Amino acid sequence: MKRLLVKNIGRIVGIQPEGRLRICGAEMDRLETLDNAWLLAEGERIAAFGCMESLDGVTPDEVVDAEGGMLFPSFCDSHTHLVYAGSREQEFLDKIHGLSYEEIARRGGGILNSADRLHETSEEKLYRQAMERVREIIAMGTGCVEIKSGYGLSTEDELKMLRVIRRIRETAPLEVRATFLGAHAVARAYRGRQAEYVDLVCREMIPAVAREGLADFVDVFCDEGFFTVEETRRILDVGRRYGLRAKIHADELAASGGVEVGVACGALSVDHLERAGEAQIEALRGSETMPTLLPGAAFFLGMSYPPAREMIRAGLPVALASDYNPGSSPSGNMRMVVALASIRMKMTPAEALHAATLNGACAMELSADFGSITSGKVANFFITKPMPSVEFFSYAYQTPVIRRVFLQGRPIITLPDPMA
Ligand code: NIG
Ligand code: FE
Repeated sequence: MKRLLVKNIGRIVGIQPEGRLRICGAEMDRLETLDNAWLLAEGERIAAFGCMESLDGVTPDEVVDAEGGMLFPSFCDSHTHLVYAGSREQEFLDKIHGLSYEEIARRGGGILNSADRLHETSEEKLYRQAMERVREIIAMGTGCVEIKSGYGLSTEDELKMLRVIRRIRETAPLEVRATFLGAHAVARAYRGRQAEYVDLVCREMIPAVAREGLADFVDVFCDEGFFTVEETRRILDVGRRYGLRAKIHADELAASGGVEVGVACGALSVDHLERAGEAQIEALRGSETMPTLLPGAAFFLGMSYPPAREMIRAGLPVALASDYNPGSSPSGNMRMVVALASIRMKMTPAEALHAATLNGACAMELSADFGSITSGKVANFFITKPMPSVEFFSYAYQTPVIRRVFLQGRPIITLPDPMA
């Protein structure tokens, strides 16, 4: 097995003990670090790490000098829609001119617009467009990503999307999880016949997806103007029978009941939560469901931000994800997401980093193997140039500090220093 040694690391950030699968409440602010350190990867896993003084006796095949930069665990982005065709700048203009997300959706724009484009685009072209976005997020430090379907809205096109996600999983060096989101919007052909569309999702799409083993999770856009609590419950129940655990879009546009139904159905996560309040925090308390916040969407749509501080004060874990999609968050930049979490939701940089790594991994059922610097976990990490503090990473959020990216113990990207 190939042994890769990283030496002269100024600070290792995001160390966790073995067996910790998520991090909650006040604990989120305690970032464990090690200064002046080395890290050894054996094959795809982290074998050991320690202080430079203790380096004697390590015999690697390859040595990388971190030159005093910091080493972070890769981001685990647990909510994206990064497989889509084309882009939607027209709606960007519509928003600038005053239309809301709901108004655009009601006019047949939004998700239905992306569905039309996806229908016309071949699987090969979709794959190529999505891989450009995958390469982009890898360069920005992401090592695990969840990708949803939901721009197909017919059995054939949903399968097409999920096959593209499977191909990304097989060919890209990052870890991928797939979510079936047939209930993202009612397909144009079913306008006015929402119940029939939900039947299609339950009776045809989910069985077809399961037959090909194309998804790990099932998601529903449970919100005003989209799917109701009853429809959500039905879809999640069918999903469960086919082995798909739930993740839900909840409380983005209105207090939708999505959190409550998600917790009742044992959802892995409930995501968005811009409109969530005390009642939803209460519903989440004591559950296994991860509240996942997407500040990039609140930023792009000019919405209010979810109550992160109240959640942490209540002892809940919180995850952060990008929501990378053409309509509400055309960016997969997790560094921007952690910066926004601090700037707009008053999460400390330590809380935001835990939310974007270990807790994000937990929201994909991946935290036993990803999301922190822990011996035995997959060696997914990135190295920065020397920084004055960990906080600098969020504070100077546009300064290009990420220098090298490693996934599965292998060097993937070395970025040039634009200042050199
Ligand atoms: O997470 N809210 C629903 N779905 C996406 C937006 C999808 C789109 O507009 O294309 C979201 O924000
Ligand atoms: Fe989303």
